[in-house]
Amino acid sequence: MVKKIAILPGDGIGREVVEGAVEILKTIGHYYRHEFDFQYGLIGGEAIDQCGTPLPDETLELCKQSDAVLLGAVGGPKWDQNPAHLRPEKGLLNIRKQLDLFANLRPIQAHPTLQDTSPFKGEHLEGVDFLIVRELTGGLYFGKPSERTNQNGEEAVVDTLFYKRKDIERILETAFELARKRRKKVTSVDKANVLESSKLWREVAEEVAYRYPDVELEHMLVDNAAMQIIHKPNQFDVIVTENMFGDILSDEAAMLSGSLGMLPSASLSANGLHLYEPVHGSAPDIAGQGLANPIAMILSAAMMLRYSFHLMEEAGAIEKAVKHVLESGKRTKDLTNHPNQYVPTKQMIEEIKEALADDFAILNIMDCYA
Ligand SMILES: NC(=O)c1ccc[n+]([C@@H]2O[C@H](COP(=O)([O-])OP(=O)(O)OC[C@H]3O[C@@H](n4cnc5c(N)ncnc54)[C@H](O)[C@@H]3O)[C@@H](O)[C@H]2O)c1
Repeated sequence: MVKKIAILPGDGIGREVVEGAVEILKTIGHYYRHEFDFQYGLIGGEAIDQCGTPLPDETLELCKQSDAVLLGAVGGPKWDQNPAHLRPEKGLLNIRKQLDLFANLRPIQAHPTLQDTSPFKGEHLEGVDFLIVRELTGGLYFGKPSERTNQNGEEAVVDTLFYKRKDIERILETAFELARKRRKKVTSVDKANVLESSKLWREVAEEVAYRYPDVELEHMLVDNAAMQIIHKPNQFDVIVTENMFGDILSDEAAMLSGSLGMLPSASLSANGLHLYEPVHGSAPDIAGQGLANPIAMILSAAMMLRYSFHLMEEAGAIEKAVKHVLESGKRTKDLTNHPNQYVPTKQMIEEIKEALADDFAILNIMDCYA
């Protein structure tokens, strides 16, 4: 069956890394005999320039007609002074809301081969393999009012942290379901010693945990979680938290993987249409120079194969190919301390394609002798 994939490259390095994911998916399609139909759409700054809005209706329609969405990244200094509704990031927030992408999954794994560039050393990275489940369509980023205001003649400002009980419940259920397929531990992160929203969050977490007696639940305050991710990262299995806490903690945790350029993500909806994107932004400082690490985007495509199409073997093949390339010593610039020993984006993509071909050839030989 043909799988229709909406491709939204966006801005900056988004375009460079998305092409890498498409190349890898074509390679997978070739070896495993799947047909992927790639349809391109505009989002972010480029959409503002061409259509006057960061999320054109055609793009939204394209996504809704597709089986999955792959997104690069949006944003850049060109649009930084635009009014709020004409900021590229607004396109991102809108697509999350419009497609009801309420659960953002960010797997964090330490790669022993990248220890030389990591600020963490040796045994600290051993066994680090956890999943951050971030609520994506509520909290401070969407609550109203969010505006500059005036209080007794003095300039003031307000943002609103708003959640409905059912929104908290569904993200916690997602976390518990995922934990069931892993090491069966959920760490629910909140600020229940201060925030009313966190008190309800904690209450709901207890209720949901009651339905998953096989999964251990622990609560952790967000400030402690920020410390524990650095102090003892291998204690975690699944971390679940609200939108802004998850945004901050996952960038912090990215350093355990070696670089922001290594971190994939999946954003899941309840209706089966999911979106996949790297955690990083459009990196205007390196855009167009062939310096972008395409691995986060490529691993996001692997997540798409796993979560949207249930192609477990194919997803595993991509992850294995990435591992082989890193073990062979090939690095993009963000992954090396040696200023002249790195491969450009396109070559990294080629290396991963070649590793896929090699692994596939070995699998075939083994099949012949089986
Ligand atoms: N999901 C998204 O589209 C998203 C997320 C974050 C930021 N942004 C936008 O991106 C723009 C830049 O934001 P920022 O600089 O804070 O964050 P960023 O993630 O774009 O970059 C942070 C740093 O990491 C480096 N980096 C990021 N991805 C990399 C990769 N794949 N390979 C190598 N190096 C990489 C960059 O060069 C930069 O030094 C802003 O307009 C911001 O709003 C978009």
